[in-house]
Amino acid sequence: MTQKVALVTGASRGLGKAIALRLAQDGMMVAVHYGKNQAAAEEVVSKIESTGGEAFAVQAEISEVASIKAMYETLDAELTKRTGAAKFDVLVNNAGTAIGKPIEEWSEEEFDYQFDLNVKGLFFVTQLALSRINDNGRIINLGSGVTRFSYPLYAVYAASKGSVNVLTQYLAAILGDRGITVNTLAPGAIDTDLNAGWLRSEAGKAQTLATSAIKRIGMPDDIADAASFLASNDSRWVTGQRIEASGGAHL
Ligand SMILES: NC(=O)c1ccc[n+]([C@@H]2O[C@H](COP(=O)([O-])OP(=O)(O)OC[C@H]3O[C@@H](n4cnc5c(N)ncnc54)[C@H](OP(=O)(O)O)[C@@H]3O)[C@@H](O)[C@H]2O)c1
Repeated sequence: MTQKVALVTGASRGLGKAIALRLAQDGMMVAVHYGKNQAAAEEVVSKIESTGGEAFAVQAEISEVASIKAMYETLDAELTKRTGAAKFDVLVNNAGTAIGKPIEEWSEEEFDYQFDLNVKGLFFVTQLALSRINDNGRIINLGSGVTRFSYPLYAVYAASKGSVNVLTQYLAAILGDRGITVNTLAPGAIDTDLNAGWLRSEAGKAQTLATSAIKRIGMPDDIADAASFLASNDSRWVTGQRIEASGGAHL
């Protein structure tokens, strides 16, 4: 069997890192994308290599299309060198951020960045993947629990992830005849840099546990294991779905 290849965006830290490590454990070669933290991405690569896997790092500012195009040039060269073709099987659109603030305080620049990264970037990473992703491939878009329940400071972030849900549905419909599945994986609150300040505070921890069916704080591996299923052949009949992995938040 030929080795499957995955591109995971935002794999230098947090959920993307856990997903990259898990897909490597599943036997895939992984392109570890990073934005600013090259050293962290190289550490992920080293960790994969130390367990006998294959990985390499690629950089892009995901909110800028020119930077995404440059990333694909590097990716094409690396994949051609390593596999003989600029092709991959699994795209995990994970890079993203959550800006939290009251509606009254948003600037135009902040709003644009939230959407440029979480929606525009995801769209163009995917657009440029279409000629490179093999038939029967997998696209996994990171969504969020906040499209189902409400946290007042995260209205704009939630709207960006709502857009991701809609793109997932349309891409699944468009790409189905190639056997490519497209799903949103929607985490609840997970302990990463993104929200460590809140989740590791006594108040944040107490509120999260009180609103969660499963009484513990979610960890990156909880998401990576769900991503592993969505990236596998076992999920071949699951497409166009929003799969929430939140430990039953706000049920
Ligand atoms: N953690 C949660 O509770 C949670 C819940 C629901 C959804 N999510 C979603 O899950 C995804 C990952 O979240 P996380 O918690 O792992 O976040 P994180 O710990 O802040 O890590 C974010 C990752 O994305 C990359 N990134 C951020 N901005 C970027 C940019 N402008 N250009 C390129 N790369 C960029 C970072 O790369 P560098 O460090 O190299 O710059 C890093 O690898 C996001 O889409 C987030 O919205 C997270």
